[in-house]
Amino acid sequence: MLRPGDWLSRKQEGAPLALLTAWDALSGAWVAAAGVDAVLVGDSLAMVALGHATTLPVTLDEMLHHCRAVGRGVASVIADPAAHPLLICDLPFLSYQCSADEAVAAAGRVLKQSPAAAVKLEGAEPETLVVIDRLVRSGIPVMGHLGLTPQSVHQLGYRRQATDPVAQQRLVTQAEALQSAGCFALVLEHVPDTLAQRLQLQLAVPVIGIGAGPHCDGQVLVTADLLGMTPRQPPFAQPLVNLRPQALEALSRWVTAQRAPTNPAASAAPHC
Ligand code: KIV
Repeated sequence: MLRPGDWLSRKQEGAPLALLTAWDALSGAWVAAAGVDAVLVGDSLAMVALGHATTLPVTLDEMLHHCRAVGRGVASVIADPAAHPLLICDLPFLSYQCSADEAVAAAGRVLKQSPAAAVKLEGAEPETLVVIDRLVRSGIPVMGHLGLTPQSVHQLGYRRQATDPVAQQRLVTQAEALQSAGCFALVLEHVPDTLAQRLQLQLAVPVIGIGAGPHCDGQVLVTADLLGMTPRQPPFAQPLVNLRPQALEALSRWVTAQRAPTNPAASAAPHC
């Protein structure tokens, strides 16, 4: 397993990191079998797996439930726990914003009650930095997340972030603060490529991009987007396959076959 403490040297080696999300045992098994460095049980599962319009409604209990399922999926394809990819679980909205004590309790539950060995949280406001410091000093590895932060959708929307020099300087300052607070890596979502490249050069910790261009230390994608499973794709995630239309076609072919006159059940007399 690539432990959070090893991520710095991985960056120094110049070996790009590959991360994907998972939300259940099936997706966990798939991404583990593909050989990812880390599996993110992202709160995007609120939309991908639970049908919510945003990530806000998902609860800590639900995240734990999904994280355990992902862990079982990973274990089903990789027998040796030492060879498992690092499992990172998102702290859901309002599980860490209210107080540092609540954040430690929430992240502590993640590490105690699921196979995750690290948490991710969004933003770098002064209160968030206090929370990260407490978590790290409690022995809980933390991944940061800047740029498009979906838990702030009602303030930011889903548009590209940090498009002007003032916003870019603010984001650079925030990224440095996250590194100083002890984050072992930083997710940078939907920002200009040049900004991601600047941060990749400037920060010691790995910068993991999603819609942030190629000049990052690694990339993360929502697996359902990469596989074309969702009705709507974010503009920065080009699917490598289109599973949704293929699945719909196979399922409707099966339904049609059940109704065909050639199906023995179609002409069978009722038993009553
Ligand atoms: O929730 C999630 O899947 C994420 C990724 C988009 C990085 O945070």
